[in-house]
Amino acid sequence: MRLFVTKYPDYHIVNLDALTYAGNLENLRDIDQLPNYTFCKADILDAAALDKIFSDHQPDAIIHLAAESHVDRSILSPLDFVYTNVIGTVNLLNAAKKLWNGNYEGKRFHHVSTDEVFGALGNTGLFTETTSYDPHSPYSASKASSDHFVRAYHDTYGLPVTITNCSNNYGPNHFPEKLIPLFINNIINRKPLPVYGDGLYTRDWLYVIDHAVAIDTVLHQGKTGATYAVGGFNEWTNIDLVKLLCRLMDEKLGRTAGESEQLITYVKDRPGHDRRYAIDATKINTELGWKPSVTFEEGLSITIDWYLQNTDWLKNVTSGAYMDYYKKVYG
Ligand code: TYD
Repeated sequence: MRLFVTKYPDYHIVNLDALTYAGNLENLRDIDQLPNYTFCKADILDAAALDKIFSDHQPDAIIHLAAESHVDRSILSPLDFVYTNVIGTVNLLNAAKKLWNGNYEGKRFHHVSTDEVFGALGNTGLFTETTSYDPHSPYSASKASSDHFVRAYHDTYGLPVTITNCSNNYGPNHFPEKLIPLFINNIINRKPLPVYGDGLYTRDWLYVIDHAVAIDTVLHQGKTGATYAVGGFNEWTNIDLVKLLCRLMDEKLGRTAGESEQLITYVKDRPGHDRRYAIDATKINTELGWKPSVTFEEGLSITIDWYLQNTDWLKNVTSGAYMDYYKKVYG
C-alpha cells in the first residue's frame, strides 16, 4: 500500500480491508492523509459492499491481497479460510466482472498467492510457474482453490488476470504469529522460542518491500493470464534462521552472545508440515527484470530495528485475543 500510494501520486488508491485481527490502521498512519488514498472498511464476503465500492470508485486495477494466511490458524478453523480465501476471491472476481462488463482494455485483476499451493519439496528442486498444485494444509488448499478460480475467470470470461505465487515474507508491521515477528517478540520478552519438529524445515525468505515491487512490476508489465513465481533466492532451515535472529538480536539488545539461543525450545511438530519450499524466480527476473534488492541480513536487520523501535505497537497487537490464540497453539 505504502509503495503504491507514494510511488503513484496520479493513481487514486482505495484500500479495502475488513480489519480483522491482523489488520491495523496504525500501520498506514504515515500515508493515510495523502490526497490519493482512501480507506474503506469492508469484508470481501459482503458482495453488495464490493459492488458499491467498485461502482463508487471505478477501479482500473484490483490487487487482491485479502486472505487468511496463517497455517496454524487454518488447522484450528479451516472454514474461515474457505470463506475468506475461496468465497471472498470469487466475490471479488464477480464484482470486477460486473464493473468492467467485458470492457477489459487497460484493466487488470492481480491475485496475490503463495508458493504453499505447490506442496512440499524434498532436498532438491525448486517450484516454478508450471509445478503441479499439491496443497497440504487447509490454508494452502484454500489458496490453491482461489488460484484456480482466478484462472477460470480468465479462461471462461476473459477477465484480465495475473497471479503471483510468492515465498515467505518478512518485514516491519508483520503480525507476530508468523515465525520471524513471533520470535523477535519472544526474544525481546525472553520467552521460549517454539521450534516445530526437528527445526530442519526450509523456507525461502523475501523482504516484504521486494514482494511489493514484484506485484507492482507484474501489475504494470506482466502478461495477461500469466503467473509469476516470486522468491528471495534465499533458503534457510528454520533452526539456522532462528540462530541468526538470536545473534543479531543479542548484538542489538546488548545481551551476552548466546543468551537468546538458550530460549530455543523444540516443540511438537505442526501436522502436515511441508518440509521445504523454494522458488525459482527466473521467469519474473528474465521477463520483467525483477530481483530482490536487499540481502537477508540487511532485511532482517531493518526488521529487527523496526520492532525494537515500535514496542508499543507490539504490545498493542499482542494483548487480549492474541494471548488466547497463543495458548491454543502453544499450550
Ligand atoms: P510460518 O511463519 O508460519 O510460515 P509458513 O508455515 O507459511 O511457511 O512458519 C515458517 C516456518 O517456521 C515453518 O516451517 C513453521 C516454522 N515455525 C516454527 O517452527 N515455530 C513457530 O512457532 C512458527 C509460527 C513457525
